[in-house]
Amino acid sequence: EKGLRILDKGFLNTAVIRSRITYIDGEAGVLRYRGYPIEQLAQKSSHLESAYLLIYGSLPTRDQFKHFESEILRHGVMHSDAEEFFRSFRYDAHPMSMLTSAFAMLGSLYGEANPSLQGQRLYTNGDKQSLATMDRQIYRLIGKATTLAAMAYRVRQGREFVTPPTGLSYTGSFLYQMDHIGEEDYKPNPVLEKALDVLFLIHADHELNASCTTVLQTGSSLVDPYSAIAAGCASLYGPLHGGANEAVIRMLISIGKPENVPAFIEAVKKKEKTLSGFGHRVYKTSDPRSFIVRKTADEVFKVTGRDELLETAMALHDAAMKDEYFVKRKLAPNVDFCGLIYRAMGFPLDFFPVLFAVPRVVGWLAHWRQMMLQEGGVKIWRPRQVYIGSTKRDYVPVDERV
Ligand code: SDX
Repeated sequence: EKGLRILDKGFLNTAVIRSRITYIDGEAGVLRYRGYPIEQLAQKSSHLESAYLLIYGSLPTRDQFKHFESEILRHGVMHSDAEEFFRSFRYDAHPMSMLTSAFAMLGSLYGEANPSLQGQRLYTNGDKQSLATMDRQIYRLIGKATTLAAMAYRVRQGREFVTPPTGLSYTGSFLYQMDHIGEEDYKPNPVLEKALDVLFLIHADHELNASCTTVLQTGSSLVDPYSAIAAGCASLYGPLHGGANEAVIRMLISIGKPENVPAFIEAVKKKEKTLSGFGHRVYKTSDPRSFIVRKTADEVFKVTGRDELLETAMALHDAAMKDEYFVKRKLAPNVDFCGLIYRAMGFPLDFFPVLFAVPRVVGWLAHWRQMMLQEGGVKIWRPRQVYIGSTKRDYVPVDERV
């Protein structure tokens, strides 16, 4: 094999792209969207306003936001064929498998699945028409993410689908489609709507995590963005990544009472159990989002009442944070303890990764658009390997094999 190749398992030390979108400092526990600290955005911005910032690079003027929001809300309506698609799932299908499939279905539904290379070149050359094409696909995917999620939820409940309402916010419209049971003047609880919007905002992007890398790897072949987003959704589903918020709650339920925490910690140290919600490839101190999750949880629990698992979660947090095993490995809480909030808000357990995927569509699209418009055009991502298999050998007829 010509040339030495460095094997970088899990891409621990590999950068594949230059980006202006999100900055993380894992040692200092810093997260910024286009330079704005996540703490300021969580306090002062909204999920959709931060979505505009992530995708287009600056905070929107009032008119820019009005257009962006109205386009996204307009695209929330689903083609009626989507209803048959969702009805084909069993009531107990995992909502992430429904959502992953639904994103891929969107391309065909809107006649934009994998257009010819000529078609793709059209929107990678950055002229007015190509920018407008990408904008429409971005509005469609963000607008439909909440509707598709709500449709998956209604399949689970065996209830009819609900058309997105008018006059509510993006997050409010999502809650309406989840909870609507017929009363016309439904308004989501403002504290819960604000809490979910903050959680959407802090989940919107996180630079080149596994699912974002998957979207870019897939998008680099110039496939349509719906298929690339579906691939990212599949990657996010795993328990090491977005599926961890569901795994955290299953872990807390299995531990049960706080007095069972020491035995669980010992099992983790013997590698018999994994401590979901802890550890991160980049953060070697607490994930800055975990402080925002804690603050949001306090707000929500004032409305919903405290969750009995909270005591166990706090006992686990305190035990792990002072145990040498975790301190030495720099394992601190990550964003995925937010499952306690989703549980308090009444979402089904296996729906939690969906609440991660819906906002993360924004970050995936921001990076996808950046790659489509990058200097020098799009190059397909095709890494190499270090080959350690057999040297050359000749075919052996079956009767001579032992
Ligand atoms: C997200 O990348 C992102 O940005 C992701 C994310 C985003 O916004 O997109 O932040 C969202 O996915 C957060 C992470 C959610 N996942 C979990 O909570 C699952 C539990 N966490 C671990 O599986 C793990 O920490 C990872 C997957 C998050 C990170 O794994 P790494 O970087 O590959 O680290 P590693 O597995 O090499 O661990 C180093 C050591 C090992 O011990 P030794 O072999 O050195 O003895 O730490 C141990 C690991 O066994 N370890 C853990 C642990 N995490 C790491 N031990 C117990 N419990 C854990 N949670």
